[in-house]
Amino acid sequence: MNKETVNLKSHSYPIFIGTGSSLSNEAVSDFILGNDVAIITNDVVGPLYLEAFTNTIKDKNIVYYILNDGEQEKKLKTIHKIIDKLLEKGFGRDATLISLGGGVTGDITGFTASIFMRGINFIQIPTTLLAQVDASVGGKTGVNHALGKNLIGSFYQPECVVCDPRFLKTLGDKQVSEGLAEIIKYGLIYDAGFFGFLEQNLSKLVALDKGITGHAIQRSCQIKAEIVSQDEKERSVRAILNFGHTFGHAIETLMGYDHYSHGDAVSIGMVLATRLSESMGMVSSDDTKRIIKLLEAAGLPVTLPSLNGDEIINVMLKDKKVKNRKIQLVLLKSMGEAYLTSDYPEKEFKQLLTGA
Ligand SMILES: NC(=O)c1ccc[n+]([C@@H]2O[C@H](COP(=O)([O-])OP(=O)(O)OC[C@H]3O[C@@H](n4cnc5c(N)ncnc54)[C@H](O)[C@@H]3O)[C@@H](O)[C@H]2O)c1
Repeated sequence: MNKETVNLKSHSYPIFIGTGSSLSNEAVSDFILGNDVAIITNDVVGPLYLEAFTNTIKDKNIVYYILNDGEQEKKLKTIHKIIDKLLEKGFGRDATLISLGGGVTGDITGFTASIFMRGINFIQIPTTLLAQVDASVGGKTGVNHALGKNLIGSFYQPECVVCDPRFLKTLGDKQVSEGLAEIIKYGLIYDAGFFGFLEQNLSKLVALDKGITGHAIQRSCQIKAEIVSQDEKERSVRAILNFGHTFGHAIETLMGYDHYSHGDAVSIGMVLATRLSESMGMVSSDDTKRIIKLLEAAGLPVTLPSLNGDEIINVMLKDKKVKNRKIQLVLLKSMGEAYLTSDYPEKEFKQLLTGA
């Protein structure tokens, strides 16, 4: 079992990575505050792992909340229902919430924990690759609004995160690719050596080889923890974690969230951001080819679907990061180094999206 730490001024916490003796690890019980524990999971993960997981903490007074599977559960109504249940069961400030599931379950659980009794303990047990390398680390929690994704939420850090690669065995290929998109992103924005490691080992990673996957999860968590530790609330450097995401969100919005996955959209967004960086002389055409090759090997798309480029730009102009009507983008300064900027050639930017 390896350990990384997210060091924040207000609250530091460990991320445990590896396979424990049970499907979480004994460490979890050290982070449970009182006797009352609510485990929040969904109707896919619950039947697979709930019983084994619960066995590790069976001396506690446990309440279960089983979500329906899917992004549509990420809404205020769900939070309300969970809080109703906690209150009915007499849970108070010393209760602990545990998320057992992917990013959707984690975001819902974290947000509930952040507002119940003005904030109670919570623990993240992420069960998708995406949640292990991204969603469970860094303290962003929240739900969607009819007008957009993740518009309601809070920064609220867990007491600990436990990433157990054994959960990943039951994921489909598409869900593995979703996580790989974020893992590749970490190499591109922060660590060219890690990008090289991914190039060498991608087929093993796709096959979820234990050692390679464990290392990729650990390095991804380390990088995210380092960045978040410098800038918890995304006022500066944390923005580089959005590499590919501003393009990606616009693609997702126009294609429809139900029809286009986040990982696919981010992959295409990373290619667009790389091409713009190349046009500014910051990466070479060989670098761009390497990036495209790796994303393709991870089962991710690399070309823009047929969308109206001007519409993409209009959606991007509504992004939270727009300043003075100029879209801010995360670009590559070189392989393994990214920065946020609004200083890029407008003509090349438009050309990328409209072809004109
Ligand atoms: N808070 C953050 O910083 C952050 C970062 C990235 C993404 N997110 C959010 O995370 C969500 C996406 O996360 P996700 O991809 O994990 O989605 P998800 O939670 O919907 O999980 C994807 C699918 O995998 C299933 N699943 C989960 N674990 C499984 C397992 N071990 N075996 C088999 N199936 C399993 C789920 O039931 C679901 O059908 C989005 O809502 C996104 O906004 C949050």
